[in-house]
Amino acid sequence: MDAQDVRHVAVLGCGLMGSGIAEVVARAGIGVTVLEPTDELLATGRAKIEASTGRAVERGKLDAADRDAALTRISGTTDIADLAATDLVIEAATEDPVAKLALLRSIDLVVGAEVVVATNTSSIPIATLGAATGRPDRVVGLHFFNPPPVMGLIEVTPSLATSDVTVAFARAFGTRLGKTTVLAKDHAGFIVNRVLIPYLCDAIALFDEGFATREDIDESVTLGLNHPMGPLRLADLIGLDTVLQIAEVLHAEFRDGRYAPPPLLRRMVAAGWLGTKSGRGFYDYG
Ligand code: 3HC
Repeated sequence: MDAQDVRHVAVLGCGLMGSGIAEVVARAGIGVTVLEPTDELLATGRAKIEASTGRAVERGKLDAADRDAALTRISGTTDIADLAATDLVIEAATEDPVAKLALLRSIDLVVGAEVVVATNTSSIPIATLGAATGRPDRVVGLHFFNPPPVMGLIEVTPSLATSDVTVAFARAFGTRLGKTTVLAKDHAGFIVNRVLIPYLCDAIALFDEGFATREDIDESVTLGLNHPMGPLRLADLIGLDTVLQIAEVLHAEFRDGRYAPPPLLRRMVAAGWLGTKSGRGFYDYG
């Protein structure tokens, strides 16, 4: 199928990333069904999309009428069988290899054999995820950035088994969503997280050593490097559980101390301090 002909996308997971991806797809004029295990999680995901599109209207990025139209294009289900007629799958579940593999095995049995199954994984090898399906040539990484409606990049990652046709399709679909795509190798972390994770781990270690306050670390980066936010605030935005998971995967892949998660990160995740999504991380979000 040509990327221009995609009329319906299934997004697996409607959390931080899944809700943003569903919003981006719907705003590009394409129908979306999101999958979550419970109605409560579907309602939470829908509320995130409503809040985000509301912000886009307030900031003059989206017409109110276009927002309403986008919202009508998004539906939700708790039954994976409802996704049978989709043209493209984007998996955006929690960054947990066991959960992702189980979900990919299930969706593989539901959607048509020709359908591309993309995954928003930020660190798990695409080859591993593709091998869980009967269509490894049609499994590809489509890595969005948080928050997806605002961030302009998608990393496209083929595994050794992904076909050139699937890569071309994935890049054309990213362009249709209004994003710039880059091609990354199927090594843990791809391009961005390979650079980002050691930087975040270093900032957390600096803070843990008492080298500088969290505010001074973040201000050094916002004012000294002109980044929109400092590393501790960014780690809170990404989710400290996600940062830890990616660091673990990178460390296991490269056996390089640069990727080793600092003890404070592990302790904060153990304490349930996950950043903005839990209300507390390096900062307090009330
Ligand atoms: N749709 C379209 N635009 C929207 C929007 C929406 N739903 N919501 C907000 N925006 C726009 C706003 O209009 C604003 O645009 P403007 O600057 O032209 O006015 C812009 O986005 C910023 O929005 P806000 O003013 O509401 O928020 P902030 O100014 O506080 O910016 C931020 C928030 C966009 C998160 C910014 O701080 C930022 O870019 N931070 C860095 C984020 C980043 O690095 N993300 C990547 C994380 S790594 C990752 O995701 C990979 C994973 O694998 C770990």
